[in-house]
Amino acid sequence: AQVKLAPTPPMGWMSWNIMSVNPNEKDIKEMADAMVASGMVEAGYQYIFLDDCWQGGRDNKNNIIADPLKFPSGIKSLADYLHGKGMKMGIYSDAASLTCAGYTASFNFEDQDAKTFASWGIDYLKYDYCNAPEDVATAKLRYGNMAKALRQSGRDIVLGICEWGPREAWNWGAEIGGQSWRTTFDIRDKWNDTDGKGGVGIYNVIDKNAGLAEFSGPGRWNDGDMLNVGLKGVKGPSGAFDANGCTDAEYQSQMSMWCMLNSPLYASNDIRTMTETTKRILLNKEIIALNQDALAKQAERKVKNETWDIFVRPLANGDYAIAILNKASSTQNAKIAFSDLGLTAKYEIRDLWQHKVMGKANQWAGKVASHETKVFRLKKV
Ligand code: GLA
Repeated sequence: AQVKLAPTPPMGWMSWNIMSVNPNEKDIKEMADAMVASGMVEAGYQYIFLDDCWQGGRDNKNNIIADPLKFPSGIKSLADYLHGKGMKMGIYSDAASLTCAGYTASFNFEDQDAKTFASWGIDYLKYDYCNAPEDVATAKLRYGNMAKALRQSGRDIVLGICEWGPREAWNWGAEIGGQSWRTTFDIRDKWNDTDGKGGVGIYNVIDKNAGLAEFSGPGRWNDGDMLNVGLKGVKGPSGAFDANGCTDAEYQSQMSMWCMLNSPLYASNDIRTMTETTKRILLNKEIIALNQDALAKQAERKVKNETWDIFVRPLANGDYAIAILNKASSTQNAKIAFSDLGLTAKYEIRDLWQHKVMGKANQWAGKVASHETKVFRLKKV
């Protein structure tokens, strides 16, 4: 894999959850303006990831083109606009003839499309796997062909593999030249997949990615799919969201764990109308610092029982981060001896959501609300 393309997890905003089948130049530009004005770009959310439904077919030379009604100035002009703001641009295609939503895709046009994307100034490709053969060998081949085409395109373009689990891309994604891979089916704006409506919830992704730590590292990330933070049940692509969405504690847990587990961070809410709570969650720089930590070591799950999931990760400066997640449906009292997590010294304990030092100790005891995650940074004293 080309590590330098994504030495830390990519961060940005993805169009799918709120724009669905109608992404367009006007709204995307507004979103980019809001990304700058709100401090998102400064906090590290550099990319706009234009998802499916931008395509307008192919021209008479088989060059892929954007829908001229949605993007009257063309994609290059949009990419230029983003670059002018210090941002980057991602685009979407699929390893078959048609994308998931039925638009023109890149199978058999890998080289030509990669060159087109490069000529537009694209920095990232989300490459999906709808309408493609089910076997692993074909998936490896098709992703490998696109990875090669991107490498030969004349521009640095990150490859985000959007294979959603059955072909276990974590086993081969880095080898064929990808920088990240989805690990589950599409995330929904809910905590857990208990409603029978399909899709996965926040905890399902945490539980899955907890087992994949060994596959993660610089230039190879386990992708937990989009952040639901701030969606609050907004009506998304067909049935994608619950009526009420998640609680703020659940959104805060998602942010905490996507950062602990080094998932790429794709905000997907409307940045133009974010509430203060949503901003507080998405823009928590102490939490983001875990995701972007130079040691790039995905957290390991040290405890998993009925009530608790507890994660630990070492950080580049010698500190540790721990996350304590309450899975129960009511507030619980935690009492955790750090030595049980393999941390045998005494530490200064900094609460990364309260932004304050809680004291110096070799344990922590306190209340954790239902589905809340406490995140502490421990500095040896
Ligand atoms: C798949 C992906 C989603 C989104 C849609 C677009 O479902 O997993 O993230 O890109 O396709 O059609």
